[in-house]
Amino acid sequence: KQVALGIDIGGTNTKFGLVNHRGEILVKGSIPTDEFETPEEFIDALYEKIQPMADEYCEGKEFEGIGVGAPNANYYRGTIEQAPNLPWKGVINFADLMTEKFGKPCKMTNDANAAALGEMMYGAARGMKDFIMITLGTGVGSGIIAGGHLIYGHDGFAGELGHTIVKPGGRKHWSTGSEGSLEAYASATGISITAKKMRAEFPESVLNQYPEEEIDSKTVFECAKQGDPTAIEVFRYTGQKLGEALANFVMFSSPEAILLFGGVIKAGDFILKPAKLHMERNLLPIFRNKVKLVFSELDEADAAILGASALVWEK
Ligand code: BGC
Ligand code: NA
Repeated sequence: KQVALGIDIGGTNTKFGLVNHRGEILVKGSIPTDEFETPEEFIDALYEKIQPMADEYCEGKEFEGIGVGAPNANYYRGTIEQAPNLPWKGVINFADLMTEKFGKPCKMTNDANAAALGEMMYGAARGMKDFIMITLGTGVGSGIIAGGHLIYGHDGFAGELGHTIVKPGGRKHWSTGSEGSLEAYASATGISITAKKMRAEFPESVLNQYPEEEIDSKTVFECAKQGDPTAIEVFRYTGQKLGEALANFVMFSSPEAILLFGGVIKAGDFILKPAKLHMERNLLPIFRNKVKLVFSELDEADAAILGASALVWEK
């Protein structure tokens, strides 16, 4: 009877859970990420929260180890390196710091990779050997599964599809400085930038009734549901950029499905329909009408916790 700890580090919140061999989350919790100035303080806070839970829930079971999913995580080195949406800069030996504190082995992977693993083991991608997970949140992440395995590549960072360019010379990324990345358009941050631009062009848009700081993907969704054409156009444009990117990804690895995941998919068909349209339109005919474009089945937090915890059982 073994238990693993799965942790999903996000730009705003960090979620964790104790998971058994069957993929059942015994207990879970969360702490804010952005309130800690150093990774050491963050890990201390995690420990204080998790250790009492582990003492309670692991009674009579063995606490095997820790799996972590994080932005810009490196699977080979157990590091987090220069993450654009995290408060800590530089290269952090995160797995080593975790092992020091918890006294357990720790493995790391990219947060979107962890979500892909979770979906493959317990969710919408069960039984699939080739699929791409795209996470649309504060940032845009991805996990590429090919032949039943995550692609890690030579240096361990494979699958940073959020930073591929969908519009050469386009919108400058707030952190990396690249021009026209998918993340600059299709992340929650990108949607809010698009919405601010478009509402300035259309004074009659309902979006103009909100203060600047409330122009986020949630507000745009509310306005789109009310039928505001500008809000609908924000999502249509976002979906178009996403779909064009997806066409490239499909031609790169010929997946069975693309799974979309994260806060942004709450916009549903407002994004999904244009995404599908522009994906199909830009595909080479041999790829057309073959790739499923689906929403993830697992609860957002759970997929990455489960996937991260699965690293512990990996040989
Ligand atoms: C990071 C990725 C991460 C994604 C989602 C991106 O900015 O580069 O590593 O998967 O955000 O958190
Ligand atoms: Na990835």
